[in-house]
Amino acid sequence: MIVKPNTSEDEVLDNTLRPQKWEEYIGQEQVKRNVKVIIEAAKQRNEPPEHLLFYGSSGLGKTTLAYLIAKELNVEMKITSGPAIERPGDLAAILTNLKEGQILFIDEIHRLNRTCEELIYPALEDYKLNIIVGKGPMARTLEIKLPKFTLIGATTRIAQLTSPLRNRFGAIFQLKFYTVEEIGQIIERSAKILNVEIEKEAIETIAQRSRFTPRIANRLLKRIRDFAQVESDGIITQEIAEKALEALEIDELGLEPADRKILETIIYKFDGGPVGIQALAASLSEEVNNILEVYEPYLLQLGLIKRTPKGRVVTEAALKHLKIKPKNRLL
Ligand code: ADE
Repeated sequence: MIVKPNTSEDEVLDNTLRPQKWEEYIGQEQVKRNVKVIIEAAKQRNEPPEHLLFYGSSGLGKTTLAYLIAKELNVEMKITSGPAIERPGDLAAILTNLKEGQILFIDEIHRLNRTCEELIYPALEDYKLNIIVGKGPMARTLEIKLPKFTLIGATTRIAQLTSPLRNRFGAIFQLKFYTVEEIGQIIERSAKILNVEIEKEAIETIAQRSRFTPRIANRLLKRIRDFAQVESDGIITQEIAEKALEALEIDELGLEPADRKILETIIYKFDGGPVGIQALAASLSEEVNNILEVYEPYLLQLGLIKRTPKGRVVTEAALKHLKIKPKNRLL
């Protein structure tokens, strides 16, 4: 594993909470079952598994799954990301440093640039790297043989992957949002690891506000643990959980101020929609990608907004949640 030098405290804690064994990984049953078959079959044939692609919202466990696969295969995993591979030379360095059977994990693979993407095709198909050396009439292609490896790609934006790249994966898996019960189990497990006592009702409350996402559940648990420690005796009671969540401005549905701002902007500035994503982003001074990757999936999942051919619209459920009467909507 490559640990980035500027690893934050939260990331270190994320690693302690990360499941270390298959049995500890809660949820995503369908994906787990299929991945296990792929691994087992590859082990029996004594060859590396085919390249795998995981997609789904951030925080759902794509990296964790890749870790578990590497562990199961007893091989090392090299970690990088699409935007970190800037030039062909970067990719060549990564690929030529791999050892037989190793896993290369590329996060945010949809952000790999075209030149690097084309370079990776023969590496994936035939474990070959074609490097051009020299310029003009003296330019030559140098073919480098690579060890057999497995690429695990992860993306939050499957539609942004070109089909030639998509087609080179042996299997593609979607990670879905977790159920509230599964999130509850994850919180219970994390609380044990963090050695913090937590009431059953508090687990439920936090689970309901964790956006069906383990990373968010763990983050909330850590923040609420701070509250319990500073303002009480360290035990996370239902009362402390509610108080902390209120202070963190996280409502009953798990919406944060930024989510509510998106809904209110559509309602008040765009008359409830439809509004194009560009216009919405400009109005919020937000990045389009941030809205698409961070906020929108959960709002869609909750049915608070809908995507139509003309743009985003808020639903009755959003108005109800924000306690806005439809007739008060127009400015
Ligand atoms: N922590 C993060 N994701 C998890 C999962 N799926 N199961 C258990 N713990 C987790």
